[in-house]
Amino acid sequence: MAFGWIDEQARARRRTGLVRTLRPRAADSPLLDLASNDYLGLARHPEITEAAAEAARVWGGGSTGSRLVTGTTELHGDLERELAEFCGFEAALVFSSGYAANLAAVTALAPHGSLIVSDSGNHASLIDGCRLAHGTTQVVAHADPQAFRKALDTRRRPAVAVSDTVFSVDGDAAPLAELAVVCREFDAGLIMDDAHGLGVLGTGGRGALHAAGLAGAPGVVVTVTLSKSLGSQGGAVLGPAHVIDHLVNAARTFIFDTGLAPAAAGAALAALRLLRREPERAARARAVATALHARLTAEGHEAVRPDAAVVSVRAPSPEQAVRWAADCRSAGLAVGCFRPPSVPDGISRLRLTARADLSDGQVEHAVRVIGETRP
Ligand SMILES: Cc1ncc(COP(=O)(O)O)c(C=O)c1O
Repeated sequence: MAFGWIDEQARARRRTGLVRTLRPRAADSPLLDLASNDYLGLARHPEITEAAAEAARVWGGGSTGSRLVTGTTELHGDLERELAEFCGFEAALVFSSGYAANLAAVTALAPHGSLIVSDSGNHASLIDGCRLAHGTTQVVAHADPQAFRKALDTRRRPAVAVSDTVFSVDGDAAPLAELAVVCREFDAGLIMDDAHGLGVLGTGGRGALHAAGLAGAPGVVVTVTLSKSLGSQGGAVLGPAHVIDHLVNAARTFIFDTGLAPAAAGAALAALRLLRREPERAARARAVATALHARLTAEGHEAVRPDAAVVSVRAPSPEQAVRWAADCRSAGLAVGCFRPPSVPDGISRLRLTARADLSDGQVEHAVRVIGETRP
């Protein structure tokens, strides 16, 4: 039977507690949200939603075409200029998602014959970029600069090292400064995905590269999403102007994709301007994460010390992780649940996001619910 194998896979997923289901979110959900990536609490901020509405009124519901045809509005240009300036890079290029930005950066910067060295904890979009690229990928041990050094110490050139700045599963940071040194030593490019760093790390949320003094450095390219701290949707690649020009000409997810919707570009631009005015939001997100981690470990949970706003709590098994998250939800708390195949090491976790707009009382309440529902 055509597609009969799908049912067998579905049965196997049910047996191992790995079934995924969609749960539409109500606009007036009463749940306390520690599951979204809205780190700065901007997705429903009136300035951001009004900017999205105004952009749709002025420019339309969609961008009407690919970026190289009709899909680049003045808003896209403003967003690229201000994003590059905010993060400290020469130029930026906006994509319809962070996923598309990562595919673009890796595929366009790793031509035939090249070497890609990729951290084993990288996000799926970087992994897929490596799979699609014409270069040869070598996956190395997680957050290990010596493993990158060993892999780069070959004659295969050109070469790039690819890593998340903050890993999405455990919220731990990459050894950014050391990676930059290794890349300089071997004349390799460095592509860093700052999806979880933008808005949270660095002065006023300028990101992990800015925090490490690497923003705008030659050979350094960063990708971001507009869908987490900036409360919108879309992605971008930032780097030297010649790299960005190359992406315009060579990146298939730029060339063959409809430009980002004006509402999303307008919302992201408004969020960026708000963050300039209210830089303390970044520090607050970090402080909430630190407090959440401290309270959870004090209660005996096994939680990873957060380097940004993601706090990961170990669960005994995929089934128990799912039940734990469901029990939290029944008690009014939305938390994320990571389990295979989304985790490279097979360990299931609750994934909590610390938002800048959470009060100390809400953090305390969340810790209580997580404790009371513990399997
Ligand atoms: C590290 C990382 N990179 C890239 C992405 C993809 O970004 P987007 O959701 O904008 O496609 C995500 C998550 O969504 C992420 O966590």
